[in-house]
Amino acid sequence: MTTTTVQPVGADYGTDAPAVGGPVSSADEFSTLREVVVGRASGARIPNPQDISTWLALYSHLDSKQLAGIEGGELPAYVLEETEEDLEVLVESLRGLGVVVHRPADVDHARPFSTPHWESTSGMYSYCPRDLTLIVGDTIIETPSSVRARYHELDGLRGLFHRYLRAGSRWVSAPKPQLRDELYEIGADKLPALGELEPAFEAANVLRCGLDLFYQVSSSGNEFGRIWLESLLAPRGYRVHPVRDVYPFTHLDSTISLIRPGLVLLNPERVTEDNIPDALRRWDRLWCPPMRQVGSHATAQPLSSPWLGMNLLMVAPDLAIVDAAQHELIAALERHGVGVLPHTLRHGQVLGGGFHCVTLDTVRDAPAGIDYFA
Ligand code: ARG
Repeated sequence: MTTTTVQPVGADYGTDAPAVGGPVSSADEFSTLREVVVGRASGARIPNPQDISTWLALYSHLDSKQLAGIEGGELPAYVLEETEEDLEVLVESLRGLGVVVHRPADVDHARPFSTPHWESTSGMYSYCPRDLTLIVGDTIIETPSSVRARYHELDGLRGLFHRYLRAGSRWVSAPKPQLRDELYEIGADKLPALGELEPAFEAANVLRCGLDLFYQVSSSGNEFGRIWLESLLAPRGYRVHPVRDVYPFTHLDSTISLIRPGLVLLNPERVTEDNIPDALRRWDRLWCPPMRQVGSHATAQPLSSPWLGMNLLMVAPDLAIVDAAQHELIAALERHGVGVLPHTLRHGQVLGGGFHCVTLDTVRDAPAGIDYFA
């Protein structure tokens, strides 16, 4: 008689972690939230700024002289502690709404690693689960980040993905990018740019809206990456809309926020009547009011702009989690019938993540396959 040893589900993930309710099922940015991952601040660090892929992802607005003044390594302990506190408040608030909250497992981001083509002196963080994993309906997609230091970042979510796989999800990874020096170009302005040698993009370059996805072509997502994503999703009936010449830097979620079917929040410094994605032209547009600049100056070069204030998390089509300091934005949302739960991430800009970035919605109510633009 043969016996098969069955590994406990997600055994490497910690026994105190909540069970998953079923497969991942999240196809938009706004329908009622049921399960979510909330990032962790502990162990967060700035990867070596001298690495071309770090320069491109975090500091591509700085020239090489300015870059020389940036120090990588550990972030001040109080930044991580206060961020942990803020995230804990967010977790409790989500739980209070009945949302199941998952957290990344502890990962030692200080460990160096290498491939045949390069060495990375460390990893980065588990603060932004949004960035590298794209959930499309029942499928978990690991995206090919161009940032070398983030190559192993999803280790913190593997146990969770094991659970989701056993619960019936699909789980795929884009072709592992080589990230050789040749992928990164230095433009005429002497600043780094992302080339087209291989598919490279981060999940946070994408917004999901049922059958339609918006893919920002920028320093964190190339055209080749869009082609790969389309090759995966078009046969399943999805449309991947390129968002070009809107914002050249990292991620789409401080530029366009999908509030509910028919209502979109737009960044007035980046989106114009000319470059607004065609599919969104028929929706009501809420132009984001000016951002109140608050929060810490714990590092000389924060990882994101003040527009992080519009990086909100929809927990239902009529309820948003928004930076408490953004009174004008909150009032504007309320005028449109959207309730607001104000929250704070004191070091959001320093770490480069607001409420959309620090979360990854794995289960929402609306099924996949809805055409919101019919
Ligand atoms: N780069 C954007 C800005 O500075 C912030 C995007 C953050 N998004 C994220 N998923 N980490 O406005």
